[in-house]
This record gives sequence, C-alpha cells and structure tokens, in this order.
Amino acid sequence: MNSLSPASPTDPLPPPIHERLQRDRDEALDELCQWLRIGSISSDPRAVGEMKSAADWIENKLRSGGLLTRRIPTCGFDLVYAETPAVPGAPVVLVYGHYDVQPPEPLELWISGPFEPTIRDGNLFARGATDDKGQVLTHVQSVVRWLSTGRPLPVQIKFLIEGEEEVGSDGLNQALPELADLLACDCVVISDNSQYADGQPAITYGLRGILAMEIRVDGPKQDLHSGSFGGAVKNPAIALCQLINSMIDADGRISVEGFYDGCIPLSAEEIGLIDGLPSDDAQLAQELAVPTLFGEAGFSSNVRRWARPTFDVNGLTSGHQGEGGKTIIPSFASAKFSFRLTPGQDPDKVAAAVSRHLHQHLPAGVTLSIEPGHGAPAMISSTTSPFITAAKAAIEEAFGVAPVMIREGGSIPIVAKFQAELGADCLLLGWGLNDDGAHSPNEKFSVEDYHRGTLASAALWNRLGQLPR
Ligand code: BES
Ligand code: ZN
Repeated sequence: MNSLSPASPTDPLPPPIHERLQRDRDEALDELCQWLRIGSISSDPRAVGEMKSAADWIENKLRSGGLLTRRIPTCGFDLVYAETPAVPGAPVVLVYGHYDVQPPEPLELWISGPFEPTIRDGNLFARGATDDKGQVLTHVQSVVRWLSTGRPLPVQIKFLIEGEEEVGSDGLNQALPELADLLACDCVVISDNSQYADGQPAITYGLRGILAMEIRVDGPKQDLHSGSFGGAVKNPAIALCQLINSMIDADGRISVEGFYDGCIPLSAEEIGLIDGLPSDDAQLAQELAVPTLFGEAGFSSNVRRWARPTFDVNGLTSGHQGEGGKTIIPSFASAKFSFRLTPGQDPDKVAAAVSRHLHQHLPAGVTLSIEPGHGAPAMISSTTSPFITAAKAAIEEAFGVAPVMIREGGSIPIVAKFQAELGADCLLLGWGLNDDGAHSPNEKFSVEDYHRGTLASAALWNRLGQLPR
C-alpha cells in the first residue's frame, strides 16, 4: 500500500491524533472540572444564572476550539449548537448531550461538595460528572484536540447541547421541527448512558420511554387532631397509599387497565441474547444493600430493567415530617411518580389510562388532582448499521475490549423524536458505569473512562470517515 492509497476501513487512529489526546489529558480533565463547578440545575429556579454560565462555558469551549457556534433560544433554556466544516461525500454526525444536571440533595450525604469536583480513587466526584457533562465533553475534546493538530476531520460533526434534558426537553421538542435542516445528519451520537460493566463497554440499542406525573389527594381544609376527628374523615395519606396500591400487584405487574396496550413483546431470541450476558442478581442485591432484587415475575432482572414497563413512586409527602410524633389527620397527601415505557406504548394513551384508573379507584371522602409531567416514547435503534460497525471497532480500539450490545432502562426524552424528525439512527455509546450514582449523592465518573471515551470518540470519527461512500 503506498501513501496515496485510501485508508482501509480498519485503519486505527493516526498516531499524531492519538499523541495529541495523550498529551492533553491533564488539560482536558481540568476543563471538565471547570464545567462541573457550575451548578446548572435546570429544575431549580434559583439556578438560571448558572444555566446561562454552563451554556456559555461549553459554547466558548467549542468556539475557541475552532468550531462555528450558534446559541439557539427556546421557550426554555438555550441550545448550544456548533459545527465543523462539511466533508463532501462523508457522513454527517450530530452529537447530542446536555449541560443541565439534577438537583444534588441530600447535600449532607456528599463526601465532597457536589459542585467542587474532587478526585478520589481514580474517580472524579461531582454532580454532572457522568450525567452528562463528563460524557458529552469527551466528544467535544476529541473534536477540538483533533482540529488542534491542523488535520481536517474526516466527517462533519455538529453538536447540539441542551439545558433541559433532566426536565423533559420541552424547549428542544418544540424547536426541533424548525431546526431539522440545521441538524440534518446521518447518525446521532449520544453518550449519556453506561457501559455494561466495569471493563465491559457496550453499545446501547434501546432505551425506555417515560411518563411522569404528580398527584395530590386533598382531605380536610387543615390538619386535624386525629383523636377528635379520626373516624369521621378519610385520611388523605391512607387514600393515597390505597391509590398507589391499586396500580401495581404483589408480583410487580401494573394493574392499570389498558396500560400494556401496544407494548411490543420481546422475541425469544432477544431475551436469549440479553440473558446470555453475564449477570449476578445476588451480587447486585449486595451492592445495592437490598435483601433481594424485586420485579415483575417471569423476567430476568436485565429484561425487567431494560425492556419491561415499570411503575415507581419517586417521592411521597404527607403529614408531619419533623422530629417526634404529631397525632394529626393531614390535610393532604401527594406523590410524584413515573412509569418507564417500552416500544409500542404511547405516553399520551398511558397518561389517559392512568388518569381514568386513579379517578375510578379514588376512595370516598377525598378529592384528587393530577399534574401531568414529562412524557416520551421508548427508542430502539438498528443493531447492524454501518455506524454500529464503525462504533464497535472504535470502542475496541480505545477500551481494548469489544463492546456488547445492550438496552438500558433510562430515558433520553428527545431520542425518539430525533429518529422521527431527522430520519437518523441513534448511536448510544455510554462511557459511564451503572454505579456512577447518576441522580444520587456522590455522583462520579472514572477519570480513565473519561480519557478512554475521548479516545473512542476520536477513533469513531476516524472509522466513520472510512465508511464506503
Ligand atoms: N442519562 C440519563 C438517561 C439514562 C439513564 C440512560 C440510565 C441510560 C441509563 C438522563 O440524563 C436522564 O436521567 N433522563 C431522565 C429523563 C426524565 C427526567 C424525563 C430519566 O431517565 O429519568
Ligand atoms: Zn439524568
């Protein structure tokens, strides 16, 4: 092969790029720490200033790295868009991620402050470390540092980094149809998820959808003495528990009529593939400090987590929460809850079925109000596209281990809409780990995985650039 012949599709990353990423590791880590110091909590009205700073930070990083950037206002928080030059005939890739984070509470459980990134035992601890600043920054780093070598990228890369993923992506959802031309691409690359296990990278071909809601059961106009009035009025906390109990049976099956309508069952072949992955329920139970795992009867825990619908109470409030006892009948009780949905389930239809169920099962003596929350359908992508082939090779090149194909149970509300509006398949490449503590105290991201993710990202651009045109 002489130096002018086209690269074979199996060529690894050119050494100068590899060396640049290696040389810049400390600086890249330092930059992640800068971004993590900004407490961009999208659900907290007090954090609007931080939301703007986090968007400014990433926009500036992209612009100073040589990309053309654009700030796109929405009905919610701004989108940050950036692009590298078009490469005629080569695929166009859209990298999506989010700069918003979940609230860090309870603060007293953090060993170091949620917005004071700290390294312990090879992990970087901070809110947003894995979800999603650390992960999306791997792609920004790979692009910016590639460009810093003076070599052109072999594919065009567009970035779309939003600030409302953790609150349902309303702004992006509304704006997406108008942005379809700007965002036109052949595939969407997302790293906002996990590897299968430590040392076992994965490509995720399916995510569950979500339907969240908040309900409130009202009783007497104010808290009452439970001695004077117990026996005369319905206790709203008990009514709420009865309602919750009516929605799920002891085997973990959801009892809402019509809930499973449309739900596409997994093929025996897919169940076989999922159940063929190494997994240990007893070990997971031990890690999570629960006496035993629990879930819908008849399915393995991986199938239940990734591909079966579930119901969870996320928060429950009623009555006296302070120290000591207080003998009252609370005036109200409320619950935040969510359903994870699987392919074929329509969030709007599920919402209607749940609302019907709640009204039908409401005990006498209290009133009910329902506040609808986020809704997004599940996502399934191809497992055999050329993009998957390129990603497999890139991951093996960076991690030294071939990835396994998995689904995951979390939701990225906009992904199904990307498929529908942009006609592009999604490539979900998680660099995180299941025990990273996303949404929990002491969220972390492995420093090595940050660097390996960056390397895999660069290797992906290189492999995608070699796909036959
Ligand atoms: N990074 C997660 C999504 C995720 C979690 C994917 C676990 C794969 C495995 C994302 O940031 C997230 O938490 N999404 C929310 C969306 C919701 C608030 C609408 C979720 O899944 O709860
Ligand atoms: Zn999240």
